[in-house]
Amino acid sequence: MTMNERKEAEKEQFNTLAAVWSNSEEAIGQAEKVVAALGIQSGQSLMDVASGSGVILHALKKRQIAPRRYLAMDISPGMLEELRRSFPEAETDCADFESPLAYHPGFDHVLIYNSIPHFSNLDMLFANAQRSLLPGGTFVIAHSRTRQGLKEHHQRIGYISEREPIPANEELSRLAAQYAFDQVVTSDDEFFYFSCRSRR
Ligand SMILES: C[S@@+](CC[C@H](N)C(=O)[O-])C[C@H]1O[C@@H](n2cnc3c(N)ncnc32)[C@H](O)[C@@H]1O
Repeated sequence: MTMNERKEAEKEQFNTLAAVWSNSEEAIGQAEKVVAALGIQSGQSLMDVASGSGVILHALKKRQIAPRRYLAMDISPGMLEELRRSFPEAETDCADFESPLAYHPGFDHVLIYNSIPHFSNLDMLFANAQRSLLPGGTFVIAHSRTRQGLKEHHQRIGYISEREPIPANEELSRLAAQYAFDQVVTSDDEFFYFSCRSRR
């Protein structure tokens, strides 16, 4: 399967899943922990990459955080349609974050939550995050499971990943340095969390 065929298949799969993609209380509670770690405050801006049907927006609402600007980007129109069902006012962009034009300058935070296993071109993620951030802005890759927890989950559901579902710390640190980020922080205790700050 070529990269484009794989992407089309995945997009179709997420379109089919969109209507049942559950933003359960548990899922929102987990997203709240990531929002807390991100440290976003009312008045700041957030680009939510691979937003799905809006679990991060639910978490922001629960924590009473009102961003100045929130943009949900996802490759699946079905997921964004579900997101707008709950949040009709939300700004959305149906785009592939691995494409060279999928960036929007001027954000305080760029977040990829629960979605890193679905990306293969990590260089493009860091390049687009860097282009989208204000100087000093943060780029975060987070997952509700730990590295080990995610591997076990994939085994249970029979999902075969082409690479490590969550890239190694060394690779993430190397990419951060290459794309002009510093202040790299990673943790993998209760959930996986990687953060870095734009130097530009
Ligand atoms: C496992 S879901 C997670 C959704 C959401 N972040 C959540 O936690 O509920 C992965 C999401 O990544 C999106 N996605 C996959 N590849 C993408 C790409 N290249 N660009 C943008 N979104 C992508 C899918 O459409 C899907 O909504």
